[in-house]
Amino acid sequence: MLSYRHGYHAGNYADVLKHTMLLQVLKLMHKKDKPMAYIDSHAGAGGYALTDEFSKKTGEYLDGVAKLWERDDLPEPLQQYIEDVKHFNQGEEELAFYPGSPAFVDMNMREKDRMVLHELHGTDFASLDEQFSNDRHVRVIKGDGLKGLIAAVPPLERRAVALIDPSYEMKTDYQDVAHAIIKAHKRFATGVYMLWYPVVDRAQTEAMLKILTDSGIKHQLRIEQSITPDNNVFGMTAAGLWVINPPWKLDIAAKETLDYLERCLGKSGGKTVVKLEVPE
Ligand SMILES: C[S@@+](CC[C@H](N)C(=O)[O-])C[C@H]1O[C@@H](n2cnc3c(N)ncnc32)[C@H](O)[C@@H]1O
Repeated sequence: MLSYRHGYHAGNYADVLKHTMLLQVLKLMHKKDKPMAYIDSHAGAGGYALTDEFSKKTGEYLDGVAKLWERDDLPEPLQQYIEDVKHFNQGEEELAFYPGSPAFVDMNMREKDRMVLHELHGTDFASLDEQFSNDRHVRVIKGDGLKGLIAAVPPLERRAVALIDPSYEMKTDYQDVAHAIIKAHKRFATGVYMLWYPVVDRAQTEAMLKILTDSGIKHQLRIEQSITPDNNVFGMTAAGLWVINPPWKLDIAAKETLDYLERCLGKSGGKTVVKLEVPE
């Protein structure tokens, strides 16, 4: 039974970091002219109305994308991110819609690229399907994204970015995700794997990441933003991306982004980390 709905969280501080880094990874991948595939294991609804009941209930985007919407001093990675959010809002002055990961990729895809999207929730799948069913570059699959990820590699193009962005509804998700990535990496070792993770219980998150660092897989980068020190009462105190095979110079873009976000979105005691946890 899936109860998680990304609509409650769309555009929050974790989405800001996740989507900004996703755009940077695409930009760095596009430096080579060769085609690539984008695999989204947990694609969500594709886009969200910030005026609907979900967003209004939590107002999480007010502490995320809304704080950047009117800034005129954004560093380049965040500027690109906000330009895409503005494009998704069709140039309107008011921030009313937020793109999900498939929409961000769609705005940046080249004719030769393709997307494979997985979503299990019926309503979110239907929304994705409606947006992309007529696009021959996009395949929308209603099914388990971890199995789908493994089945989607190696891609014909031999170049791919995979975003693994689960809802972590069950405790076993943490371990299942790490083992699925290791399996996918065995089939396709040169892919770029971006795992999004929350820190609600630090020990649980680190246990998942340790499975990856102990796996023998090389070149693993941590990009993390804590908005407040870890504790047991606040809920999600930090969120991050764990990137296997990060494109060259992603760490520089991540530092630039996080330095700015720390000043703009951080609360007292927050911190940021960009660290190569396993070398090349
Ligand atoms: C964090 S949201 C995805 C957000 C999206 N990647 C974005 O950045 O806009 C996680 C999504 O995974 C879906 N989901 C949960 N379990 C799944 C599974 N086993 N396979 C595929 N999708 C799943 C949920 O319904 C939810 O829409």
